Amino acid sequence: METVPSRRDFLRTASTAVLAAGAAHPLLAWAADSADISVPGKDGMIVRSYRFLDLETPVEFMTEWITPINHFFVRNHMYPPAKIDASAWKLTITGEVEKPITLTLADLEKIPARSVVTILECAGNGRSLQNPKVPGIQWGKGAVGNARFSGPSLKALLEKAGLKDTAKHVQFRGLDQVPGKVPAFVRSIPIEKALDADTLVATRMNGEIIPAHHGYPARAITPGWVGAASCKWLSEITVLDKPAEGNFMSPGYRFPNTPGKPGEPVKPEDTHSLTALTVKSTIAGPSDGAKLKRGAQRIQGVAWAGEAEIAKVEISTDGGSSWNAAQLGKDQAKYAWRLWSYQWKPTKSGDYIILSRATDSQGRVQPEAAVWNPSGYLYNAYDQAKVYVQG
Ligand code: MTE
Repeated sequence: METVPSRRDFLRTASTAVLAAGAAHPLLAWAADSADISVPGKDGMIVRSYRFLDLETPVEFMTEWITPINHFFVRNHMYPPAKIDASAWKLTITGEVEKPITLTLADLEKIPARSVVTILECAGNGRSLQNPKVPGIQWGKGAVGNARFSGPSLKALLEKAGLKDTAKHVQFRGLDQVPGKVPAFVRSIPIEKALDADTLVATRMNGEIIPAHHGYPARAITPGWVGAASCKWLSEITVLDKPAEGNFMSPGYRFPNTPGKPGEPVKPEDTHSLTALTVKSTIAGPSDGAKLKRGAQRIQGVAWAGEAEIAKVEISTDGGSSWNAAQLGKDQAKYAWRLWSYQWKPTKSGDYIILSRATDSQGRVQPEAAVWNPSGYLYNAYDQAKVYVQG
């Protein structure tokens, strides 16, 4: 598997783990020192966890419409499959169907492929910015990317099996290696989203065979929804008459129906399962903490809105007192992010707070403060970069 560290990396693991004496889990403690870790197929990523690989994209990489695979974030809840033999791989479709079926990779390749450019964002992206802090992987701003996924529509596969009238939800299960007591990563999506022509069983990412980190040989792509709806290493599709059960449906991946007080628990019955992503922009440059020369500056970044479109992105260079429209990039697609840029010419030296704020086609505006919730999901407050302009 690609994720296995080299011997040199392993030695680094061991030596750093010794230094990290007293930490709860040596591997995780070591993982915090990402400068020392190399993961084949990935470059310059921030390592948020190594035991179950979680790699974050530095915001500075978010300058391209299509995120290259070597810079695309990785979120694993458990160990990836040890080795997948594509010729032996099978996808079963069972449950509320007329005729349970088993498909091979060759069968998938015979079905016309569809391409969808979509963001994939982890529901926990930005969790580290929640105040008060919440437990979970402390993602910064880079558990998001924008890629072109291709493969048959899930609808085409479901039609082969024939849906019964009782079909209400479609559950995915992948080939993750589930450690002892960890519950399996199993989630379902409602039948309406499953039958949307853009919901895919993708075998390609950015035109390449989908890499191991991202779900080889096939993964679900539920465009515009939280990343957890896009199951990797897909092996079982089960059509259900109700939502799936289990840890990753509840208490996992749920959001309060109404905002509560920051820091206060939320009752399970006052929550709903996460679906589409919200409106958000991120500043790729200048970097937070940058020292800039006086003169023309380009502020740039990305913005996305789940199933909606970006209507505008506004930039403030005075900490939110005044806002100006950024220019939107020409590349666009229904679920994709939009590049934006803003030309700025600071005339005085000193400290500046740059803010970005996106508005979408549904009229949603990126808020000044995100809705706090106990799992830190869907963080989408204005993005911010503090810079110093030299005299
Ligand atoms: N699918 C499986 N089988 N196992 C997982 O741990 N993680 C999910 C989703 N699909 C996951 C999975 C989550 S939470 C996210 S955000 C996306 O995959 C991340 O996709 P990526 O690793 O390709 O970026």
